[in-house]
Amino acid sequence: MTDKKKSVHDAWSSRFAFILAATGSAVGLGNIWKFPYITGEHGGGAFVFVYLACVLLIGIPIMIAETMLGRRSQRNPIETMELLTEEAGADKNWHYLGWMGVIAGLLILSYYSVIAGWASAYIVKAFTGSFFDADAVAIKGIFTGFVGSPMQLIFWHSLFMAATMLIVVRGVKNGLEKAVRFLMPSLFLLLLILVGYAMTTDSYFQGLHFLFVPEFSKLTSDSVLTAMGHAFFTLSLGMGAIMVYGSYLPKGISIAKTAFLIAGADTVVALLAGIAIFPIVFANNLHPDTGPGLIFQTLPIAFGAMTGGWLMGILFFVMLTIAALTSSISLIEPAVAWLVENKGFSREKACVWSGLATWLLGLGTVFSFNVWSNVKFFDRSIFQLLDYLTANLMLPIGGFCIAVFAGWIMKRQHSEQELNMPTALSYQAWKILISYVAPLAVFFVFLHVVGVL
Ligand code: TRP
Repeated sequence: MTDKKKSVHDAWSSRFAFILAATGSAVGLGNIWKFPYITGEHGGGAFVFVYLACVLLIGIPIMIAETMLGRRSQRNPIETMELLTEEAGADKNWHYLGWMGVIAGLLILSYYSVIAGWASAYIVKAFTGSFFDADAVAIKGIFTGFVGSPMQLIFWHSLFMAATMLIVVRGVKNGLEKAVRFLMPSLFLLLLILVGYAMTTDSYFQGLHFLFVPEFSKLTSDSVLTAMGHAFFTLSLGMGAIMVYGSYLPKGISIAKTAFLIAGADTVVALLAGIAIFPIVFANNLHPDTGPGLIFQTLPIAFGAMTGGWLMGILFFVMLTIAALTSSISLIEPAVAWLVENKGFSREKACVWSGLATWLLGLGTVFSFNVWSNVKFFDRSIFQLLDYLTANLMLPIGGFCIAVFAGWIMKRQHSEQELNMPTALSYQAWKILISYVAPLAVFFVFLHVVGVL
């Protein structure tokens, strides 16, 4: 392939290191905070069904494509699109795709960091015993008091952004491997314990029923769009994060297998979180459509009631914060990689500027939960608007373009060579999914939302 510029890129030590990093990026607030609350808002089973179908038919093929593009060019997303367009002899405008990704990442991180700040604040609340024997009303009071205070939210948002930037400054690889290696098994174990607690409530089956028995009459076109958008969000797709990680992946490693592993782990974590949370919701007469505060108003009830709940609560919010950190670094890495590799910034300077911009933008989300809660655009608060714009629009559009690029623009022999699938049949299956199924699915969902269908 063309080698205009020497790549300043590092490489992962192994396939396992890539799996850890990509899983770290995928598993985060999306699984434990967002999945349960949007599932609650959109009526349960049918929403979950659409989300799972999107992961399988759209998410996994696009994850394979995004990893492949990154690895082929071994550059940051903007340069990747430039180089690969050149290689395919296609129109130059494709590099705008890289741009949209960089911007989407910063927009997402601006609110992601605020919510991750909530998780860190709850470590302290768990530690000081705030949840001890507290009922649903008391727990709700703690939450509303907390998000009502801009100063507290700003403090935790700042702390989380600072932690993210400290890690990113040192290069994404250092430390990440170790963090994810211990995080994943521990998080998994804690979720299992919480599921165990959910079983002791008398609403366990009601929770399962809510999650897994679809009532398709409840589905609106907005629910379908949200479910599809969430498939992108939870797998970190559509904005170049996985492309960046793929660019660090050594040649000769099977991309398809790793994509299945990552998506599988991500889905299991989300489902476990749902199974733990909804029985608590019903057992305490809470509403599934409580919104972004859902996990903060349900899980503390469990921690307050169960034996060993004090320690469990602390550990849980520590894990959630770390899970958010391993995701947030992937949201800002495309911007940093681009500033360093193309604009000649030092890594430090790139981190300071992109971090400051994101932090500042995050204040909009902070205030949307208190002093600006009445400020609405298109009927949405600033937080809701950012979330809708990124997860429901930018990521699916980015994913659509990645699919079209990988399926139609890139030369078949190139993708075949880069993917190096074990059988011709598996390559063919991917090729059909990426060229037809994924782009058409996104397209039709959009048509449906704008009311054409
Ligand atoms: N997937 C992460 C989560 O579920 C969030 C995330 C990290 C993300 N990097 C991303 C979302 C890139 C979209 C694009 O919490």
